[in-house]
Amino acid sequence: MIDTLQIKTTKTSHSRLGETDFNVLPFGKVFTDHMFVADFEDGEWKNFEILPYGPIAMSPAISALHYGQAIFEGMKAYRLPNGEVSVFRADKNFERFNISAARMAMPTIPEEVFMQGIASLINIDKAWVPSEENYSLYLRPVMFATDAELGVKASSTYKFVVLANPSGPYYNKALKVKIETHYTRANEGGVGYAKTAGNYARSLHPFAEAQKEGFDQLIWTDSATHQYVEESGAANVMFILNNKLVTPAVGETILNGVTRDTIIVLAKEMGIEVEQRKVSIAEILEGAKNGSLTEAFAVGTAATVTQIGSIGYDGELYTLAEVSTRTISPAIAKKLNDIRYGLAPDQFGWNWVV
Ligand code: PLP
Ligand code: COI
Repeated sequence: MIDTLQIKTTKTSHSRLGETDFNVLPFGKVFTDHMFVADFEDGEWKNFEILPYGPIAMSPAISALHYGQAIFEGMKAYRLPNGEVSVFRADKNFERFNISAARMAMPTIPEEVFMQGIASLINIDKAWVPSEENYSLYLRPVMFATDAELGVKASSTYKFVVLANPSGPYYNKALKVKIETHYTRANEGGVGYAKTAGNYARSLHPFAEAQKEGFDQLIWTDSATHQYVEESGAANVMFILNNKLVTPAVGETILNGVTRDTIIVLAKEMGIEVEQRKVSIAEILEGAKNGSLTEAFAVGTAATVTQIGSIGYDGELYTLAEVSTRTISPAIAKKLNDIRYGLAPDQFGWNWVV
């Protein structure tokens, strides 16, 4: 990539780094000293700036707030053994960002704006990248509509912002998940494959209800029949069924996860048979009962590889094999982490050293 972007940089006068306890880094709460911002106006991206992280003044009429034109991405930067910093598969997040933008009638973003925005932010805040195992710098690019008017139409102006958040794992235990058969996350013809704010907004009430029932997360099912598993709250789902890795095929209703894609590549490489297809609730529950379902796990950038301990369906709880007995997903997760942290050769060229 060519470094063509002219980025105006305003450094913070007071770094918060020294006040930050790197032993306590809950996901999404601590931000680095700076952020990258850019504007879309008059049909082009402009005003590329690194600014101190902080509030942005906006009209309360901006259309993102009223009509929801907002998309985002999530990726992670890792500290390599030689001290360098590498972002994992950012090209896939860039591609998906523009797929989301097109679906939400938003402008796409040029590769150099996305990539150089991220690189410049990491470079100025490099000291914030954790080096502990399981810790990383979570990167959150977001784009939202900024026209201050109330007519329902695609905005003509947008803001693109990249935030960086040093963090540990999103989940710290095996999950008790509920298969949701009333509410839906997505439907054919809808926006399920886009990483857009409304997909998360609509999940919050069902999620809160499930939490009241004692669950940690939901597994969404197809809106037409509620018989097939789709994905989890903020992650894709995978199963080891009859020693094969089985996962719902992605389509219009499922986010095409980068971690999902990565794990499929690694599993095949490790000689594990992979099936991407419709996955019925019936076969999962049957597998839980007869023991052919030996592992279930959620996969995502924030979630990494999180084990699913039990599955609730229709008032019954199905307890899965003890996490300590599982071998396949931990082996894949190790391989994945070794590549990300530079402890194994990056044979697929996934690491982008910034
Ligand atoms: N599905 C949803 C709804 C998500 O929010 C995420 C998280 O990004 C994923 C799946 C996993 O995607 P990825 O592995 O690209 O992070
Ligand atoms: C990610 O894994 O990057 C996500 O977007 C999950 C987030 C919604 C917590």
